[in-house]
Amino acid sequence: MSQTIKSKLPNTGDTIFSVMSALAAEHNAINLSQGFPDFETDPVLLDLVNKYMHRGLNQYAPMPGVPELRQVVSDMVQRQTGHSYNPENEVTITHGATEAIAAAISCCVREGDEVIIFTPAYDCYAPMVELNGGTPIFVQLEFPNYNINWDIFKKQMTHRTKLIIINTPHNPSATLISKEDLVQLQEIVEGTNMLILSDEVYENIVFDGNEHHSASSFPALAERSFKIGSFGKSLHVTGWKLGYCAAPAQLMAEFRKVHQYMVFAVNTPMQYAIAEYLQHQERLEISAMYEGKRNTFLKAIEGSGFKPLPSKGTYFQLLDYSAISDKNEVEFAKELTTKHFVASIPMSVFYHIPQEHHVLRFCFAKNEETLHKAGSLLKNIG
Ligand SMILES: Cc1ncc(COP(=O)(O)O)c(C=O)c1O
Repeated sequence: MSQTIKSKLPNTGDTIFSVMSALAAEHNAINLSQGFPDFETDPVLLDLVNKYMHRGLNQYAPMPGVPELRQVVSDMVQRQTGHSYNPENEVTITHGATEAIAAAISCCVREGDEVIIFTPAYDCYAPMVELNGGTPIFVQLEFPNYNINWDIFKKQMTHRTKLIIINTPHNPSATLISKEDLVQLQEIVEGTNMLILSDEVYENIVFDGNEHHSASSFPALAERSFKIGSFGKSLHVTGWKLGYCAAPAQLMAEFRKVHQYMVFAVNTPMQYAIAEYLQHQERLEISAMYEGKRNTFLKAIEGSGFKPLPSKGTYFQLLDYSAISDKNEVEFAKELTTKHFVASIPMSVFYHIPQEHHVLRFCFAKNEETLHKAGSLLKNIG
């Protein structure tokens, strides 16, 4: 008889992302469900990867990442936040933001610890907390603006709270954490041992003149935060799975102990290529391009029964379909894919206990033609 194991993640099955993508493929639907671009990165970056591969830089990189790229990250974060991270011992290049999140949680959460997660939330936080013996404590953002209610938050804090996970610009709600929110958080955690994981993978995608506010901009937050970013998101190469973590030296020392045994090091030629590509750029200017795509998508659905919620950052647009159907979100998202040929993600799946607001998430990181096609299909409904 074959062996079985008692699952450490008994509630984890096929994610809605695989389900919707499979459904989209089966029905030949336009796939606006999963968050990835359908356009290519700058060919200059591809040529640089080629150059470093041919130069023979194809063996293990240094464990924390190639020094050139750590320097670039340190410089970019300094320009963005005013906080200086020493590339020697405060920056690590990771296997995507996903590995950075896993390593940050693993290095500090242990049996009995509580971790506060705002919902709706990106799906990888809670399982990583549970794998490490911790307990996720879910605090709901207030619909429809997805604001943080700090009074509710404070009620969820206990002496067991070890880590608070924040995410801005926020997936899935496409909202931003305000400066006032971070000031509040700073006051709340002052004098405690609580740590912060600040997931900022969409840090370069912010619209309408809004600003991205990083935990690293606030000294009292920076001293207890793991700031996490993703080159996949910023350079339109999600398949490369390269990201970074910046944190104060004591935190980074523990982070690296986990990173060292999780992956040891990450893709060498791509690290050199990204370092050279970014070396001479003050900042990554991709907000205007994505704002244009958001506007194209919004224009394309004008006159439909869908009501857009504000998208202030990320490459997601939420649409309220309550004027079209009273079906629940999963059912309506499936119907939209199989009968109207546009795939999206129901917001309810991003909650610990599904909430029904008749809202779906659409990814607009797609070429113009795809967005126009999706828009005209959505306009024909209802
Ligand atoms: C909020 C958030 N965090 C982390 C990640 C993972 O990033 P990466 O692909 O660099 O691992 C994603 C990817 O969709 C995301 O949306």
